[in-house]
Amino acid sequence: MVETIQWTDGGVVMIDQTRLPLEEAYVTCRTYQEVATAIRDMIIRGAPAIGVAAAMGVALGALHADGGDLDRQMDAVCETLAGTRPTAVNLFWAIDRMKRLYASMRGKPVEEIRRALVEEALRVREEDIEICRAIGRNGAPLVPDHATVLTHCNAGALATAGYGTALGVIRAAIESGKKIDVFAGETRPFLQGARLTTWELVQDGIPCTLITDNMAGHFLKSGRIGCVVVGADRIAANGDVANKIGTYPVAVLAMENNVPFYVAAPISTLDLTLAEGGQIPIEERAACEVTHIFGRRVAPDGVEVRNPAFDVTPARYVAAIVTERGVARAPYEESLRKLVERP
Ligand code: MRU
Repeated sequence: MVETIQWTDGGVVMIDQTRLPLEEAYVTCRTYQEVATAIRDMIIRGAPAIGVAAAMGVALGALHADGGDLDRQMDAVCETLAGTRPTAVNLFWAIDRMKRLYASMRGKPVEEIRRALVEEALRVREEDIEICRAIGRNGAPLVPDHATVLTHCNAGALATAGYGTALGVIRAAIESGKKIDVFAGETRPFLQGARLTTWELVQDGIPCTLITDNMAGHFLKSGRIGCVVVGADRIAANGDVANKIGTYPVAVLAMENNVPFYVAAPISTLDLTLAEGGQIPIEERAACEVTHIFGRRVAPDGVEVRNPAFDVTPARYVAAIVTERGVARAPYEESLRKLVERP
């Protein structure tokens, strides 16, 4: 399995997701500022992977803090990392987890604090892989045998510390003996589906077909798709799901064609402080991601552009939300809260 992100003596090493699949290159982040840049520039992306990167960024920040006011320096580290991408709540979840540990160690020797923060960041990474496997185990029974699964964006090993959430469900279904294949939507403008999901699946020998985003309705209507499985960046208390732009139309088309639409995500992606999806901050990215493809202009100079990176799928389109603690179904206010409160 591909290593998305690793802690090494030389720094935080990430596979460069802007260069896949043409090049398998690795980037080493030696400072927390470099980790923040890697998150913002999508060298690493995908909600859980962003969380792991942020945790490691906080640990790097502590390692490189000078002899001055550590509290003030740690605040600056956390603020910089929190300012990278606004939608995936896993980013804030991971920073809060590191902050809580730091606060609990106030007054301890700096070396001890540094060691503890590094260990915690490594734990966030290890736990993420275990969580993905549990999501896979819980979701596999939902996938019909001898069916095609449609997915959008990349919610695979590359979007996590390993194994994936939506692709974790697909991997676990195959490991349980089911014969399934995958349709991957290309996911304009960053092409996570075309570049990353297909790369992962081809590497694993999982049968996979690439389609453009505007083909989803055609194939959902054809009867070929047994279910849709996608990941999530933030899930509100009522079950509304923010995920990669283009997820919402897939969900609507799935319901129209009686195809179940499943969301696979860790508990750390739930944001029960938000009552509904309209409150989720949606990242707006640079216009050049839309006007250009691989650095080549495809739209006229000066044209107005919108580039929201995520959309919100209302809970009524979501057949189930698969987490590491179990499967939630409507009414989500109740079922999600129960999962969160479960020890
Ligand atoms: O902009 P990205 O590539 O970070 O967006 C990723 C997604 O939307 C994924 O579906 C989501 O983060 C879940 S990843 C397990």
